[in-house]
Amino acid sequence: MPYAHITGWGMAAPEPILTNDDIAKMVDTNDAWIRERTGIRERRIARDNEFPSTLGVEASIKALTIANLRPTDVDLIICASSSPEYIFPATACLIQDQIGASKAGAFDLLAACSGFIYALNMGAQAIRSGSIKSALIVGSETLSRFINWKDRNTCILFGDGAGAFVLQASERPGGVLSAVMHSDGSGGDLLTLQGGGSRYPASETTLHDGRHYIQMDGKEVFRFATRVMASATQEALSAAGLTVDEIRWIIPHQANIRIIEAAARGLKLPMDRFIVNLERYGNTSTASIPIAMVESLEKGQIKPGDKIVMVGFGAGLTWGALAAEWTGPIPSKGHVHPEQYRAFGRLRSFVRRALRFIEGLLYRREL
Ligand code: ACO
Repeated sequence: MPYAHITGWGMAAPEPILTNDDIAKMVDTNDAWIRERTGIRERRIARDNEFPSTLGVEASIKALTIANLRPTDVDLIICASSSPEYIFPATACLIQDQIGASKAGAFDLLAACSGFIYALNMGAQAIRSGSIKSALIVGSETLSRFINWKDRNTCILFGDGAGAFVLQASERPGGVLSAVMHSDGSGGDLLTLQGGGSRYPASETTLHDGRHYIQMDGKEVFRFATRVMASATQEALSAAGLTVDEIRWIIPHQANIRIIEAAARGLKLPMDRFIVNLERYGNTSTASIPIAMVESLEKGQIKPGDKIVMVGFGAGLTWGALAAEWTGPIPSKGHVHPEQYRAFGRLRSFVRRALRFIEGLLYRREL
């Protein structure tokens, strides 16, 4: 049975920064309160021309470059997002088109902030089953578009960004070792984005009622998160036959420093075993774990051979954890340039649209 290795990684963050002081000009809050209660100092906000697809494409190209894998060799793209570009088409298909991944299947996965762990597990399982050889897993968000900038309970928390991993099959042991996924829909009402779905299709009433904004019972989500982070980590570890002492790094969902501290207490681990960067990005939902990992890899913290656990929670309610042994890129001959395939992708997309147009004209004439 092949193993599923994480062989490439990339991230993208919009440049504009929104600090706590900036938010204090919009709602009754202040930098000290936000830092003390959440650990967040600033977050990135997408420009008008940035979307989950564009951020996802930037992160994906970087990940493919590190993996030295052509977009045309990708078998499957899974995009986890809590702020997908449309209900449909899937953001994964927009990414597939823009990177020129001509033979990849593509779909979106919605498990809120646990989405990246769910998607990574699904991609790894498809590789382990032998049905595919490579997968691109993307977490991409422009959650700022769903924030009520008058609601101090939510507007302090979220930020925009994207992260991507390449998974590849190899006979060499390692890579994704185990994963657990959980849900509890009875808590679905604790964190919602209702407007625009089929229960509350966009209308003047949904706008008036603010259903197009994220609504959250912060205290309840906080209590739930502190309960599940340590237990999910332990479950993933025992499924992989590992103990907590064998784990070099834990990469938690970056929602609130106090939730991460509670997880550390639950696992009886010091905070220096946790990778934390939420002070600069806030909660980027599905992108938070890959962004934290990419930054930590760039600092040289995670090294080949390290055993790691990613753990997260989110709306749904959902939660999950994934244990992996870090290997890094699979050595390969020659250099591919995934960036160049974007031009190929644009051309391919243009030609296909043109052919569809011509076909449409001919078809109409035949009728
Ligand atoms: N600035 C100043 N005061 C505030 C603010 C603010 N931004 N927000 C709330 N307060 C006030 C409250 O009104 C309250 O005042 P009161 O005591 O007079 O009523 C007081 O501060 C304490 O409020 P709490 O809600 O108890 O504050 P808490 O310490 O719980 O922090 C927070 C709130 C940060 C939202 C926290 O509950 C939290 O992080 N929850 C988890 C949220 C989360 O992680 N969500 C994402 C899930 S992942 C996904 O799927 C998207």
